[in-house]
Amino acid sequence: MVAFTARAHTNIALLKYWGKADQKLIIPTTTSISLTLNEFYTETTVEFNDDLANDQITLDHQPLKAKDQKKIINFLDLIRAQANINTYAKVESFNHVPTAAGLASSASAFAALAGASAAAAGLDLTPADLSRLARQGSGSASRSIFGGFVQWDRGTDHQTSVAHPLQEQVDWPIQLLTVIVSDQPKKINSRGGMQNAMQNSPFYQSWVERSNALVKPMQTAINQHDLATLGKIAEQNALEMHAQNMVANPPFFYLTDISWKIINLVQELRENGLKVYATMDAGPNVKIISHPDDTQKIEDALHTILPEITIQVATPGPGLKIWQNGATHA
Ligand code: PMV
Repeated sequence: MVAFTARAHTNIALLKYWGKADQKLIIPTTTSISLTLNEFYTETTVEFNDDLANDQITLDHQPLKAKDQKKIINFLDLIRAQANINTYAKVESFNHVPTAAGLASSASAFAALAGASAAAAGLDLTPADLSRLARQGSGSASRSIFGGFVQWDRGTDHQTSVAHPLQEQVDWPIQLLTVIVSDQPKKINSRGGMQNAMQNSPFYQSWVERSNALVKPMQTAINQHDLATLGKIAEQNALEMHAQNMVANPPFFYLTDISWKIINLVQELRENGLKVYATMDAGPNVKIISHPDDTQKIEDALHTILPEITIQVATPGPGLKIWQNGATHA
């Protein structure tokens, strides 16, 4: 069968997904909102081939660890069931994002895999269908099907738990400065972390209620191009997510002393009049939501306290692209 390639960009949640109401289907406890990023993406090629005796999967030319391999095979099984085929696949993936370092590489990975494998299996799916499919690989992947600002509706079942764009073309100044505290894979992955928080945090229910209540104000901030309100809500929501982890029994932490230094600096810069806000995911890296005109000032301030730190600028990015191998693409 024909090989297809898909490119999907990572996204950073401004309102986080942190807990599953349904473990198997990956239905979240909250509605989340994200920004897709231009600079970080995954490109994946899939070909179902009758000559294969098993699935062959590589990431950046390397075979995957058994555990990760299993996740991809499970995902391919969903595709095979839907397409009514039982052919094995060759999957080649290239990550243009530090893997598992809190930069949500699983989001771009499963969105790209959904796009390439569905096309290679001959399935003709809508973007919403691809979002539902990607969601079953990794929750945040449901949002990486679309560009710009994206909302993943919590929903109640497979059909209703799906992402949709809020603003695909972001034509106003907003960026994320990603401060790389560590590019090592995290110790507690997001799946384990959110389960811990759900089961062991005394305030989990309040997280769900407070996070869902922020959806409308966040939508309004996006519609009004209101960087200050957007950033303030995102920072509050990120800190509340991390607070769940810190008060869980046993507690666990993604943020390190360096992460906190950066968060403190962001507060200080804000007191000095800059529109800068921090958001953090299941890892120590800090993303600074900011105005592109302030990049130099923020970088200088960061380098004063952390001379060696790596900073990557990320701007709003596009949704999923799929093309047949050999064909030209945008
Ligand atoms: O999709 P997962 O299982 O990698 O979980 C993502 C969790 C966070 O990145 C912390 C939040 C989010 O909404 O992306």
